Amino acid sequence: MKKIYSNIFKVNNKNLSKALNCLKKKQLVGVPTETVYGLAGNAYSRESVGSIYALKKRPYKNPLIIHYYDLKRLEKDAYLNKKFFKLYKAFCPGPITFILKKKKDSLITNLATSGLKTIAVRFPNNKIIRKILKQLKFPLAIPSANKSTKVSPVSAQDVSVDFGGSLKLILDDGSCDIGIESTVVDLTSKVKILRPGFVNPKEIGKVLKCKVTIDKKSLLIKSPGMLKRHYSPGIPMKLNQDKAKNNQAFLVYGKNYKKGRHIFNLSYKSNLNEAARNLYKTLRLIKKKKYKIIYVSKIPNKNIGIALNDRLTKAAR
Ligand code: TXA
Ligand code: MG
Repeated sequence: MKKIYSNIFKVNNKNLSKALNCLKKKQLVGVPTETVYGLAGNAYSRESVGSIYALKKRPYKNPLIIHYYDLKRLEKDAYLNKKFFKLYKAFCPGPITFILKKKKDSLITNLATSGLKTIAVRFPNNKIIRKILKQLKFPLAIPSANKSTKVSPVSAQDVSVDFGGSLKLILDDGSCDIGIESTVVDLTSKVKILRPGFVNPKEIGKVLKCKVTIDKKSLLIKSPGMLKRHYSPGIPMKLNQDKAKNNQAFLVYGKNYKKGRHIFNLSYKSNLNEAARNLYKTLRLIKKKKYKIIYVSKIPNKNIGIALNDRLTKAAR
């Protein structure tokens, strides 16, 4: 069993100003967002961003998402286009990340954007992280607060398992509302989804009045970090299975499955949003119970189910 450290703090004014002070001193803080918990650092500081990569053991060629409070602050760093404004109006603040062209005179450290000419930006919709962003004079680089390739955290305790001793402060805002990372949409040329999330291609297409596809090829080239195995519980997984033996964990969806010690139902009510909220939590639980293999039933490939299947496919690689 991994040790849980006592650096988890409930949210109150005193602890919020502690968090702000850490960030101003270029230290990292574990923060809640509506999607997953993140590891936050000053996006203008090479030192802060360097510690994010080091702590996560993340390859430098995998760029980070820069988190903003509002448009005023973003205008200094990125070229904003019509499509961006439409999607911003429809979904922000919320679980969507935009790839835009980065301005040459932006203060965002090149380390955060892996030296690319583009920048990933997001306006998270969690009141704690918004309070923090509002009070800072710099935006925050915030990747998910897990070691590279591992399962993302959906509670302050999850963050502590991966980073316990090395973080001074993790702000505890309970379980994440969504439980799966933001949708990443590339707006630098033809609109495409690089990472599916809560906001689905249909909804984006409706706002932009065009067909929006998930571009798997471009995902491999443009999001280098997603080439390899990702979101992995560290146990082999087999997808689209009808049944499993008693000594195999069976991750299922819907009420057609019997109850049993080895059966882990993501949503008995067949609710895809509930399944997304439960996914990472359940993968961690299965690992804790020391199963050697995970069988996974079929999950409907619509709405947030597209993101669920994306994560499961990558975790199974
Ligand atoms: O929901 C989320 O987005 C969470 C919370 C904490 O905000 N953050 C998150 O960050 O998932 P991270 O670092 O785990 O995932 C960022 C993804 C990576 O796949 C990365 O390759 C991609 O965004 N990305 C970042 N900058 C990019 C760019 N300029 N072009 C293409 N992909 C980019
Ligand atoms: Mg991540």
